[in-house]
Parts: sequence; structure tokens; C-alpha cells
Amino acid sequence: MSQTSSSSSSFSSAVPSHPITVGALAGGIVGAALAAALLSILITVLCMRARNTTQAESSRRRRRSHRSNSGNSPGLLAGPEKTVSAIDERLWEQYLPQSLDDRTVQRLLKGLFDQLQLHVENFYQAGHVKVDQDVAATLAELQTPYLPGSVATTITSSRSSMPVIKHCLVYMVTQSIVNTGYKHCLLPTEYTIVASNVNPPDALKANSTAMRQAVSKWRVLTAYINQRPLAKPEARRRQDTAILAMAESFSDAFFLWDADPKDEALVRQHLVELLKTAADVATTLFTQPSSFDLRWEQPLVKANDEQRDLVVVPALMKVADEHGQSLTPAQPLTQAVIERL
Ligand SMILES: *[C@@H]1O[C@H](CO)[C@@H](O)[C@H](O)[C@H]1NC(C)=O
Repeated sequence: MSQTSSSSSSFSSAVPSHPITVGALAGGIVGAALAAALLSILITVLCMRARNTTQAESSRRRRRSHRSNSGNSPGLLAGPEKTVSAIDERLWEQYLPQSLDDRTVQRLLKGLFDQLQLHVENFYQAGHVKVDQDVAATLAELQTPYLPGSVATTITSSRSSMPVIKHCLVYMVTQSIVNTGYKHCLLPTEYTIVASNVNPPDALKANSTAMRQAVSKWRVLTAYINQRPLAKPEARRRQDTAILAMAESFSDAFFLWDADPKDEALVRQHLVELLKTAADVATTLFTQPSSFDLRWEQPLVKANDEQRDLVVVPALMKVADEHGQSLTPAQPLTQAVIERL
């Protein structure tokens, strides 16, 4: 899953809402009934054919193994040949876990995004404050490419500070989940070490589907044969360090907007717990054979309109299914949250 700069697709276009007349509706119902009947016939035919094919194939295989058994006199050659035909080369695939359905992925990410927004709403205030150079420098640590200016100038020139604070928090957390090159990473190093050193041959890179399939298999298998990457104390410590660094970086940057400065330690602890959840989400997403993408781009504004909206939470898009087949257009799983600056 990586951040792309492809054009943003609006969600409304995915759900056409044409007015339907009664006549069209009645025609539609008859048509639908016909289509259903045709479809069930088609499915029956296909199923029968599929069964026949499997039967033919297995009997062919049986015949072949039979031939290799009887055709040769017992000798050196017979042994290995028998073994080759008996082993299913794709046996390991049967042991891989089932991939999560879209709904579960959707619920996981939506839950995380909602909690991050609530964290800001509960513990920060919208008021205007003066920002000096030191604070501006700390805020710059949380800069994102989607803000109209620096964090400091955007937050002081906005109607409310809330959208900017939420945007910076969600950006930091999502980058630490999906971008292995980001300064903070919530994934275990055991997972990311290959991702950051991958250098595939040109032939594989040339075919995007083949490349995606290879990476997807690698991710799923890496996680599968390394069941508990955080079992080693140093791996656990590394993740805890990353979580603490992120919590510190965020609460230090926005301390001027604390709703209640007395609660600072508590609020930071709350964020640490949230980031642990985010780390679990990171691992879950990593182990999915499907590919997902986060879209931060917003719908284009008219030429003479000033851009005063900010994407606070990106849209989660499924860009390829578990077979590496790319989905065009990408399938939106969660919607973007856009707030006025
Ligand atoms: C990848 O290879 C397959 C099989 O040869 C082909 O059908 C497909 O169009 C190729 N895709 C790309 C993007 O080159």
C-alpha cells in the first residue's frame, strides 16, 4: 500500500442516482426476472462443465501416475518419479490464512480514524493562540504535503485549529502504517526489512500485475511464517520506542491547543494506547493479499475559488483484489472526511 498522486475519484459518481419512472421500473422487474432465469441456467451449465473438467483432469492424473507405476520396471527411476507426481506443489497455499473481507478491513480502519478524530475533539481546543518560532519549528515536524502552507501558518490563519490538528495526527499515523520509508514505523522490522531493500528484476517490474502478485504473496507468507514478530524483547522495544516518539512529537507540537494542560500526561497515555491499536491495524493490513491505498487528494475546486477545505481523514481505496487483479476504478472502502479551514 503506498501513497499515490493519482487523480481523486469522487464518491458520488460511484453511486448513480437516476430518477426511475414506473414504466421503466416494471420493465426492469420483468427484465430482471428473465435475467435471473438466464443466469441460473448459465450457472448450472458452467458448474456441470467445471465438474466434468475436474473429473477429467483427476482421471487423467490418475492414469498418468498409473502409467509411471506400471510402465517402468522397479528401479532407480521409479522412486523419484512417483514422489514428484504425489506432491502438490501448492500445498503450502492451503495453510495460508483466509484474507479478511472488505467489511472487516473497512470497520478496522474506520474505527481507527474515528478514534483519532475523537482524541483531538476531546483533548484539544479550537481557540486562536500566538505561535512563536520555537513552536513553529516543532509543528514543522508534523508537516504534510496536503496543507496549503506550513503547519504554523495554516493553523493560525484558519477559522478553527481542529481540522489542522486532526489532519496532522491522521497523516502521521497512516504514514507510519503504510509508508515503510516514513520516519516512524509501526510495523515490525522483520516485515519492513525486505520491503525497504526490494530490488526486483526489470522483467518482473515491467508487468504490474505480476509484480503485485509477487509482493502480495511475499507479504502474506512473511507474516504467516513469522507468527509473532514481537515475541523478541528487542522487537517489542523497538515498536514501543516508535509509539512513544510519535506520541511525544504530536503532543509537544500542539501543546498550545491543549484543552486542559493539567491532563497532559493522561492525554499522551491515551494517544499511546491509540497508537498500539494502529500498530495492530498496520500488521493486519500488511498480511492482506489485496492492495489498498489512501487518497488524500480532494475534489478539484473551481479556478477562482480559494482552497479552504482540508482532507482530515483520507479515503481508503481497495486498488487490487487478492489475485493481484487491479480494480479500475478503485473501490472505496471508507470515505474521506473533509473539513473547512
Ligand atoms: C502481464 O502479463 C499478462 C500475461 O502475459 C498480460 O495478460 C497482462 O496484460 C500483462 N500486464 C501488463 C500490465 O503488462
